[in-house]
Amino acid sequence: MTTIEKACEVLANGGVIGMPTETVYGLAGSIKSEKSIKNIFSIKERPFFDPLIVHVSSQAMAKSLVKEWPMLAEKLADAFWPGPLTIVLPKSNHVSDLITSGLESVGLRCPNHKLALELIETIGHGLAAPSANKFTKTSPTTAQHVKDEFNNEVIVLDGGPCEVGIESTVVGIEENTIKIYRPGKITRQDILELFSNNALIDASSEILVEYTSSPVAPGQLNHHYMPEAPVILCSESCAEKLQEKLNELDKKLTAKAVFWYVPKDPIIAARELYAKFRELSNEFPSSIIVQLDSSIIDIEQDCWRGIINRLTKAASYNLLSKDHS
Ligand code: TXA
Ligand code: MG
Repeated sequence: MTTIEKACEVLANGGVIGMPTETVYGLAGSIKSEKSIKNIFSIKERPFFDPLIVHVSSQAMAKSLVKEWPMLAEKLADAFWPGPLTIVLPKSNHVSDLITSGLESVGLRCPNHKLALELIETIGHGLAAPSANKFTKTSPTTAQHVKDEFNNEVIVLDGGPCEVGIESTVVGIEENTIKIYRPGKITRQDILELFSNNALIDASSEILVEYTSSPVAPGQLNHHYMPEAPVILCSESCAEKLQEKLNELDKKLTAKAVFWYVPKDPIIAARELYAKFRELSNEFPSSIIVQLDSSIIDIEQDCWRGIINRLTKAASYNLLSKDHS
């Protein structure tokens, strides 16, 4: 593993490092180095059309990277930064087209992790960082996951296991509407509450907050976050029937199906999700059956939105009745 000084040296030389954040580990490169940014895309095997987000250590640093800093951005940043919220804004010329895949906007996030903030402060400018996994695969939530993902070829700043466990909420701002492109720990409800209590906003201009999809976000692709073994997502009643069938099938196969019962607390469920996917995949199962007990978990609740979104996209078969993508 590595130190801040060593990480800065690698970044300054156009390399990339595994960076801890409170959500998932990122594969970080310097926004000042074209080589570093190109390295991110090639190591991750990520297509160039998929934009990277830039991590900053302060609102001042964020402002230096955008053309506009609207009042809604300021309110969001005041309330949720440092934290798991990425805000998409019109980019300034300081942000290269390579980072934004030619888009006129850039996603900015101030991570709530001591080491990440210290690293960005020390290097003195933003770090582009997608999640540190191969494109479409499961995001890493420990330093060891990053090492495993890239066969020990990437040095990692070890910041311990990630608290949140799923990627940040990504929002865009269109006049008085906040569009949630990717759901995460910060929910629509959290954002609505912020603005309903905000006396500084003109009472006549109601702030709308809506879930929507962004054609440029890979989280919007149907398959994403996938572990090595196929995932079957189902309710408990369905799992019983499925188990009988799988028992028959497993007799014919050498591999067995394994189960994960989603914890009833969404904070714990999000924190454990990706580590569980990796741990269970390591058993080389025929499939991972992810079971949601609907008598305990109300998947319609906003706090489950981000988790159901990741599970739905990771699943090869989704036997839950509703589509929560
Ligand atoms: O929690 C996170 O956000 C983690 C940690 C490392 O910070 N990062 C992460 O990055 O999840 P990535 O690249 O895996 O996901 C960023 C998402 C993608 O869906 C990307 O398409 C979207 O943000 N995005 C980036 N720039 C955008 C833009 N200008 N407009 C719309 N979406 C954008
Ligand atoms: Mg990702």
